[in-house]
Amino acid sequence: MKLNGTIKLRGDKSISHRAIMIASLIDDCSVIENISICEDVFTTISCLRQCNVKIKYYKSALYIKGGNLINPKKELNCANSGTTARMLLGLLAGQNIKAVFKGDNSLSMRPMGRIIKPLNKMKANIISNKGYLPIKLNSGVKLPIVLKTNINSAQVKSSLLFAGMGLHSYSQISYNKNTRDHTERLLNFINYDIKFDDNIKVRQRNIKKGFKIFIPGDISNASFVIVAALLIPESTIIIKKLLYNKTRIEFIRILVKMGANIEIKNIKLINSEYLCDVKVTHTSNLKNFTIDKRNIIPLIDEIPILSIIATQGKGKTTIKDAQELRLKECDRIHAICENLSKMNADIVEQEDGFIINGGKRLYYTTINHYNDHRIAMSFEILNLFLNHRVSGKYKEILNISFPEFYSVIKKLIK
Ligand code: S3P
Repeated sequence: MKLNGTIKLRGDKSISHRAIMIASLIDDCSVIENISICEDVFTTISCLRQCNVKIKYYKSALYIKGGNLINPKKELNCANSGTTARMLLGLLAGQNIKAVFKGDNSLSMRPMGRIIKPLNKMKANIISNKGYLPIKLNSGVKLPIVLKTNINSAQVKSSLLFAGMGLHSYSQISYNKNTRDHTERLLNFINYDIKFDDNIKVRQRNIKKGFKIFIPGDISNASFVIVAALLIPESTIIIKKLLYNKTRIEFIRILVKMGANIEIKNIKLINSEYLCDVKVTHTSNLKNFTIDKRNIIPLIDEIPILSIIATQGKGKTTIKDAQELRLKECDRIHAICENLSKMNADIVEQEDGFIINGGKRLYYTTINHYNDHRIAMSFEILNLFLNHRVSGKYKEILNISFPEFYSVIKKLIK
């Protein structure tokens, strides 16, 4: 068994959320091609439909007419999607919409204070369950924000930008340049009033004309396929039209440092983002790596799959300054350590990460996925490497971010 062939992936999830939210503010038709069809994105769609945004899905594209938001009659169910809950709270607070936000069990345990506190400073009236969902947005922002501390979260940064887009004066946000920058790129692309230096400044601007964009393939989803091709002997795969954005490709830089045979070609700017073609060839003798505060932010979502490849690399992998992983869809540090230990990996859990000594022989066993899509997919890739098959058991969980996961793997297996 090997992986072989050329694929294209559905559009990036982070960009899909943002494009839909921005289009929902424009009183004209916008077209978003190659939209992600994952559940998280459909969660954003259904919340915005409840606020009177007209959204149609036709042949891999979304057609959106926004601009006339109204208070939703029922609670907005953000299900499992932290990006929906956090960014929509800012967007709707900027439009003075009254709404109640709720989520599933996992989302209800994820901190929302990081958004509520700055929105309160902007004089939004928000009541929460002690910093967690459910949240009641009673009235929107009234004062622009000047935030001096660097924000390390793209969701918080985007949420505050969206809130600031509802006010006449500039809001000014200082931010960590490693946080994903899709919101800024999209706003720039549609000629929104946004300025950058060490801060981002944004204020209201009435955009009358809808936009049309193509969303490049999801780079976080690609990470699973890339690691599979690197691990499985005789594999060569090509992924076309994949997102190429420096705030997202840090995991590729780490893989290349490990010695991985990865070629990036045909880098092109299309609308607001660059895309590229990536060729990945099986590589043996991978060398292990260290991740710390210098590079954790742009690869936080790829730590689960990087932990899988680290078990096969030579030497020691250290992941530190990754406390944020404990606050994702599950405590990912714990989930990685628990499952890899059960499989005989040499892994030691730390408060802010873990240490893996690569090269031990692993034995596949049933895992505890904690309903976390990235944990489930990472261990499916390990299963594929060890047993030449995926279990196929987690369709419902991985629909959250990568519904095509099993069909893509099936297409590549030769
Ligand atoms: C995301 C930002 C990251 C990431 C999440 C998606 C986004 O979260 O982990 O999966 O689309 O902005 P943080 O902003 O909390 O770091």
